[in-house]
Parts: sequence; structure tokens; C-alpha cells
Amino acid sequence: MYDSGKVIIGIAVFLAFVMFPFYINIGVVVEKPEPCLDTPVIQALEIKECVKPAHIMRATHIALLDNWKDLASRYGERLFVTEDKREFDISLQMTCMHCHSNYERFCMECHAFVAIDVGCWECHVVPEKETMR
Ligand code: HEC
Ligand code: HEC
Ligand code: HEC
Repeated sequence: MYDSGKVIIGIAVFLAFVMFPFYINIGVVVEKPEPCLDTPVIQALEIKECVKPAHIMRATHIALLDNWKDLASRYGERLFVTEDKREFDISLQMTCMHCHSNYERFCMECHAFVAIDVGCWECHVVPEKETMR
């Protein structure tokens, strides 16, 4: 005869032990970022599009911002025309942050995920808290 109670406890302890690497992860799993597009300005847009297609923006907004910086500060170029002929001011604050006024839930949603902190707001105006959603 054997003590079934002890066997069950033994199995439970064994499972707890072998499963440890799995449930220890649950606490640190970071949700995939879901940048929020729900801002008053985007809501009011007729064409809900960025200055370039979203998949391109996702991959290349860094180079685009870099390019905008050069265009504006080196060449005094202030107008950006999209492929479909929409016109925008070349400005981080007045253009990007005008539509994406929810900095925390948009830009930071991704940046926190990849653990980067863009040091733009030392000089550029920090997005207004009131306009965040
Ligand atoms: C040390 C201060 C400083 C920092 C930090 C800084 N910028 Fe700028 N940025 C400037 C100045 C000054 C201009 C020129 C403003 C002008 O010509 O109107 C400028 C212009 C720009 C422009 C074009 C014009 C405009 O008004 O937006 C872009 C885009 C830009 N910066 C993006 C960035 C980004 C993105 C970062 C962060 C990665 C950044 N900057 C960090 C000082 C800074
Ligand atoms: C006219 C409003 C508007 C302006 C200006 C604008 N955006 Fe967007 N942006 C949008 C919309 C709307 C989307 C989503 C488009 C889609 O899903 O097809 C978007 C998408 C994006 C994405 C991709 C998000 C994702 O889910 O992958 C990034 C990154 C982005 N924008 C950054 C910027 C930056 C940086 C600037 C300034 C250079 C900027 N946006 C200017 C409206 C704007
Ligand atoms: C869909 C996710 C996503 C969104 C939304 C997003 N970013 Fe980014 N951003 C990234 C990633 C990922 C990187 C790092 C890419 C790399 O290092 O190659 C990055 C890098 C940057 C950098 C360069 C930082 C550095 O130190 O080199 C700037 C500037 C920047 N983002 C600005 C913005 C701004 C402004 C917004 C909001 C208008 C924004 N991003 C929204 C994903 C995003």
C-alpha cells in the first residue's frame, strides 16, 4: 500500500518545480504595444492617414524626423507634401504632435516597449498633458 495523499502532494510539488520557468514569466510578459490613434485631431480627419503609409512610418519615422530636422534647420524648407499631395508643416511639435497629441499612449506605448527615451523634449515643447487621451 502507498499513501495516495503523499503521492499527490509529490506530483504537485514536482509540477510546481518543472513549471516554474513558465509561470515565473507571466509576471514579466510585456504586452505588445498598441499605439492609440484616438485623438481629437485624428478623429476629425477625413483621410485617417499619416504623412506616409503607417507601415512605412512604423519602420522609418526616425529617419523621417531626422530628415525633417535637416530640411527645416539647414535648408529652411518648411513644407512637406505627401505622395497624395496633402501638405504639412515640417515640425515635430506642430505637425506630428498635433495629430498624435496623446504622447504617452502613442509614442511612449512603443518606446517603453523597446526601452528607449527620445531626448527631444529638452528643447522641443513637451506635449501638453491636457490634450492626451
Ligand atoms: C539641443 C536642443 C534640441 C534637441 C535635443 C532636439 N532638437 Fe530638434 N530642433 C532644435 C532646434 C534649435 C531646431 C530648429 C528650429 C527651427 O529652425 O525652427 C530643431 C528643429 C527640429 C525639426 C524641424 C523643425 C521643427 O520645428 O520641428 C525637427 C523635425 C526636429 N528638430 C526633430 C527633433 C527630434 C526628433 C529630436 C529628438 C530625437 C530633437 N529634434 C531634439 C533643437 C533640438
Ligand atoms: C494628419 C495627422 C497625422 C500627422 C500630421 C502625423 N500622423 Fe502619424 N499617424 C496618423 C494616423 C491616422 C496613423 C494611422 C494610419 C493607419 O493606420 O493607416 C498614423 C500612424 C503613425 C505611425 C505608425 C503607428 C503604428 O501603429 O504602427 C507612426 C510611427 C507615426 N504615425 C508617427 C508620426 C510622426 C513621427 C509624425 C510626424 C513626422 C506623424 N506621425 C504625423 C496621423 C498623423
Ligand atoms: C509603432 C511603434 C512606434 C510608435 C508609435 C512611435 N515610435 Fe518612435 N521608435 C520606435 C522604435 C521601435 C524605435 C527604435 C528604433 C531603432 O532604434 O531602430 C523608435 C525610435 C524613435 C526615435 C529615435 C530615438 C533615438 O534615440 O534614436 C525618435 C526620435 C522617435 N522614435 C520619435 C517618435 C515620435 C515623436 C513618436 C510619436 C509621434 C513615435 N516615435 C512613435 C517605435 C515607435
